[in-house]
Amino acid sequence: MSAHAASTALASRLDWARAQDAADALAPLRRRFAMPRGADGQPLQYFCGHSLGLAPIAARAMIEAEVEDWERLAVLGHEQAHSPWIGYAEQLQPALAALAGAQPQEVVAMNSLSVNLQLLLASFYRPAEARRAILIEAGAFSSDRHALASQIGWHGYDPALELIELAPRAGEELIRIEDIEACIAAQGSRLALVLWPGVQYRTGQLFDLRRITRAAHAVGCNAGFDLAHSIGNVPLSLHDDDADFAVWCSYKYLNAGPGAIGGASVHERHLQDRARPRLAGWWGHDARTRFEMPAEFMPAAGAAAWALSNPPIFSAAPLRASLPLFAEAGMAALRRKSIALTAYLASLLTELAGERLTIVTPAEPAQRGCQLSLRVTGSPAQGLALWQALSARGVVCDWREPNTVRLAPVPLYNSFEDVLRGAWTLCELLPQRR
Ligand SMILES: Cc1ncc(COP(=O)(O)O)c(C=O)c1O
Repeated sequence: MSAHAASTALASRLDWARAQDAADALAPLRRRFAMPRGADGQPLQYFCGHSLGLAPIAARAMIEAEVEDWERLAVLGHEQAHSPWIGYAEQLQPALAALAGAQPQEVVAMNSLSVNLQLLLASFYRPAEARRAILIEAGAFSSDRHALASQIGWHGYDPALELIELAPRAGEELIRIEDIEACIAAQGSRLALVLWPGVQYRTGQLFDLRRITRAAHAVGCNAGFDLAHSIGNVPLSLHDDDADFAVWCSYKYLNAGPGAIGGASVHERHLQDRARPRLAGWWGHDARTRFEMPAEFMPAAGAAAWALSNPPIFSAAPLRASLPLFAEAGMAALRRKSIALTAYLASLLTELAGERLTIVTPAEPAQRGCQLSLRVTGSPAQGLALWQALSARGVVCDWREPNTVRLAPVPLYNSFEDVLRGAWTLCELLPQRR
C-alpha cells in the first residue's frame, strides 16, 4: 500500500474509533490518569497496564497528605492522621472486597504478592504423607513456582516429585479447563493443593475459578489463586466460587504504583478455624488488644489475621486514589468496555497482520481479560525486534521470553483511538508480506 493510501485508510478508521470514544461513558476517566510521555514530549501509547498500571492523578495528593501528616503529627499520626494509620489497611477492605467478589472480612491489604503467597501456603499447604503434591500450570510465573517448590522442600519433600505441572496438549498453547479437571481427578488424594492463575500472565488465558475450585474440593484438596493479572481486570467472585485463598498485587490493573501493597483473601469458612496453623505477627492480632502486647496470639477476625506487620502507608496511599475510580465506573461497565476494546484490537490485528502474527490469547471473550499475547510468525528474534521497534515508536507494551509480545488495552484509560493507532503501528512494523 502506498503511503498516501495507508494514511487515507487510517483516517477513515479513525473516524469510527473516535465515534466509539465519543459515545463511551467511561472515556472521561482517562483524564484521571497521568499519561507518560516520550523524550519528544509526546504522550506514549500505553498498553502495559498488565505490568504497571498508570498513575492516578490523585495518587500524588494521597501520598503527599501522608507525608504532611507525618511531618505535622509524627507518631500521633497513628491515631490522628486524616486517615489514621492504625486502621489504614482496614479502610481498603470494602473496595478490595468488591473487586475480589469477597466479603470485606475475607480480604486483607498487606505485603506483596509473593510474600502473601508464602504466608497463605504456610496455612493452606499442609502436606501429609499420603497427600503432599501441588498442581500448578506448566510455565507458571517463576515466583509462584519458586514459592511452591520451596514450600515442598521446606516440608521435607522433593519438588521434583511433588510439584505437578500441567501443560497444554501437544501442539496447543492453552490449557483446556476439562484437562485441568481431569488432571485433578486423576491425581486425586495425592493433591494437597491446586494453585492456579486467574489470568495466565504469558498467554492471557482467563480461567474458570469456580470449576477449578470445585474439582479441587472434590478430591479433598485446597484451591488457591494468583490474581496478579485478574484483579481490576475481570470481575471476580471469590466467595461464591468457594476459593480457599487468593493473592494479588496492586501495581498492575489496580494502578497503585511500583511495589504497592498487595492483597490476599481467605474464604469465610476458614476464618474461625483456630486449628489451622499460620505464621503470625502482631498486626494479625485482634486489634482490640494488640497494644496490650499480650504474649498469647489472638487472631483478628478475618483475613487480617494473616497480616504480620503494620502497613506501609506510602505504598498503600495510591490505592486510595485508584480504588474509587473502579467504584465510580463500576466493574461491570469496565468489563463491557474491556471486552469491546480487546475485541477491536484482536480484529484489527487479524485483519491487518494476517498470517504474519498469531494471537495466542483465546478468541472467546469469556476466556480472556484485557491482554492479548502475540507471536510473530518466523523466529523469536523477529518478535523481539518488533517489540523493540514498537518501543522506539512510542508504543509501550512488553516482551516475555521466549517469544511473546503482550499488549493490554485498559478500559480505565485506553481508548478505541489508542487501540487503532497501536495496532496500526504494530502492523506497519511487522515484516512485510512477500
Ligand atoms: C503472575 C504473577 N505472579 C507473581 C508475581 C510476583 O509479584 P511480586 O513481585 O509482587 O511478589 C507477578 C509479578 O509480576 C506476576 O505477574
